[in-house]
Amino acid sequence: MAGTFITFEGIDGSGKSTQLRLAASFLREQGCTPLVTREPGGTTIGLRLRAALLDATEEVDPLTELLVFAADRAQHVRGVLRPALEKGDVVISDRYADATVAYQGAGRGFDPSLITQIVTLATDGLVPDLTLLFDVSVNESTNRTTRRSNARNQLDRMDIEHSDFHQRVRQAYLKIAEAEPNRIKVIDTSGPVERTQERVRKILVTFLQGRGHLSTTG
Ligand code: TYD
Repeated sequence: MAGTFITFEGIDGSGKSTQLRLAASFLREQGCTPLVTREPGGTTIGLRLRAALLDATEEVDPLTELLVFAADRAQHVRGVLRPALEKGDVVISDRYADATVAYQGAGRGFDPSLITQIVTLATDGLVPDLTLLFDVSVNESTNRTTRRSNARNQLDRMDIEHSDFHQRVRQAYLKIAEAEPNRIKVIDTSGPVERTQERVRKILVTFLQGRGHLSTTG
């Protein structure tokens, strides 16, 4: 596969979506236009699944939740990710399969081998080339999601989970990163947005130069 697949992960309020937006516009300025996508919701049917999944008024059984995230991903892989990667694009996704390991595996408590089976089925074995894991304490992330919801919208169905749920998710993400240090780079987001963004840019530039998507001069 000629393209490059990058994912951004982290607990809610970790700052990953802000960092992704800034990183994508930086890469565009550098002459490398990434395809920016997300899970859940990276396809037309996925947008409908996303709305259902995140509706805080909806009572969703954990197994239903696991399978709908998987369904969203199956469509995303086959309809968006693989075709773009086959064309040679740089693809950046706001969340991917590590989120299922962290949220449905550690958060909801599903058996790791069931999670692996479902992830493998949905992804068809497509693994990111690089993952940036945005890490911050649950206290800080909760402050951020609360501020955000006061400023514009309602908290979604995952945001309203208790802090021990988010603790389990955070620890699971850190454990995945420890197990796969070559693929996953952990980025502390407790400092200012600009400082985090500098770190993100450095990692992306080195990685994309190494894969021939960015020139090494200039
Ligand atoms: P996200 O788009 O990051 O939320 P926001 O737009 O509020 O920043 O993710 C939506 C939620 O879905 C988030 O709480 C994590 C959750 N999620 C899972 O539980 N499992 C998954 O496999 C994925 C992709 C997301």
